[in-house]
Amino acid sequence: MQGKRILIGISGGIAAYKVCEVLSALAKQGFEVRAILTQAAQAFITPLTVSTLCRHPAYTDDMFWQATHDRPLHIELGEWADLFVLAPLTANTLAKLVYGMADNLLTNTVLASTCPVLLAPAMNTDMWEQPLVQQNWQAIQTQARMHSLAPSAGVLACDRVGTGRMAEPATILAHIESLLYTKGQRDLVGKHILLSAGGTREFLDPVRFLGNPSTGKMGIALAQAALHRGATVTLVHTLGATLAALPGVRSLAVTSADEMQQALFTCFPDADWIIMAAAVADVKPASYSPEKLPKRSLPSTLSLKPVPDILTALAALKQPHQKLIGFAAQSGDIVAPALEKLQRKKLDAIAANPIDQPDSGFGSESNQAVFLDEQGRKQVVAPCSKLQMAHQLLDFVQALS
Ligand code: CTP
Repeated sequence: MQGKRILIGISGGIAAYKVCEVLSALAKQGFEVRAILTQAAQAFITPLTVSTLCRHPAYTDDMFWQATHDRPLHIELGEWADLFVLAPLTANTLAKLVYGMADNLLTNTVLASTCPVLLAPAMNTDMWEQPLVQQNWQAIQTQARMHSLAPSAGVLACDRVGTGRMAEPATILAHIESLLYTKGQRDLVGKHILLSAGGTREFLDPVRFLGNPSTGKMGIALAQAALHRGATVTLVHTLGATLAALPGVRSLAVTSADEMQQALFTCFPDADWIIMAAAVADVKPASYSPEKLPKRSLPSTLSLKPVPDILTALAALKQPHQKLIGFAAQSGDIVAPALEKLQRKKLDAIAANPIDQPDSGFGSESNQAVFLDEQGRKQVVAPCSKLQMAHQLLDFVQALS
């Protein structure tokens, strides 16, 4: 990804200050970053701020009209970019894009470029909900190179509570990473991908449980990657509402393995691919006390009973068009046990990932793996971000015969 060229177009909204975080993160990650500010954007953040964060002078309309470059600036910038991100996108700039207008450097450069464009609008709720703005938002999304990050709901700078907040910097950064990987291809349109994420909890009483250290990051990365490639995504997770809140993803919160199984069984008939990234319990306490057990009543040994294997149960119901993919978090030799699980659970593919290597496994931002399929295909995935690994796994599944 290093050396990829990202052009950020900033228009005039208060969310412009949040884009500074995006510029800073991209430059630190080694991307080449350039930014264009509209006249209105300069009322919110200065070219000096943007130039400093990009490690390159910011572009403004003054430079455009003064022809300080050998070639027209909008052509040069349009050809330079691998990806164009418009954040924040105001109602005014959105309307100009829909009508193909070009009255400043930013809008001229959109027309002079052919790369994918990521749109992150931000505005007051009433502005966002205006039928004309909504009409424009729908219209722009019919353009193949336009990728959208709809605003979320929350407390806005105008003190309104409603929809209009620009997507968070982390969400914008994830979408940028995906678009650089896919070059804007939506190869999973029409596919319904059912995912599980997080560690299940098996309660002994209302305050004590058997659990595991899974944080669900791999499952969330898979949901993002699938969504960015145009799939319909359902995420069954144990992560709580805030963590798993991915706009555009249908998300079902569960706690125990039994609840996870029930939710997955309900969604399974409509799914094309089922990817079990969740760390599901193998056993649960033999009994549950609805009242908190006093310390003195806690057993010195815990009676356990097995939890049914969800993947095995799903494999028995699988239709020919469906693909079932598991994960095997392993220490030591990761391949042999994963191969055994692939065969025993009758899976189409499995991702074996080490939990005893630095920067991979539970809770880590990055991961590494060996992908195996039932026909003997093997792919080694070198350490990379969980989002990169998610894309590679989706490619691996896409290539299953
Ligand atoms: N899995 C499942 N239901 C369970 C336990 C695991 O569907 N009750 C799924 C996991 O989501 C994962 C795969 O099976 O995709 C492998 O899980 P793992 O814990 O590695 O394998 P186990 O079969 O539990 O074997 P072991 O614990 O002995 O390694």
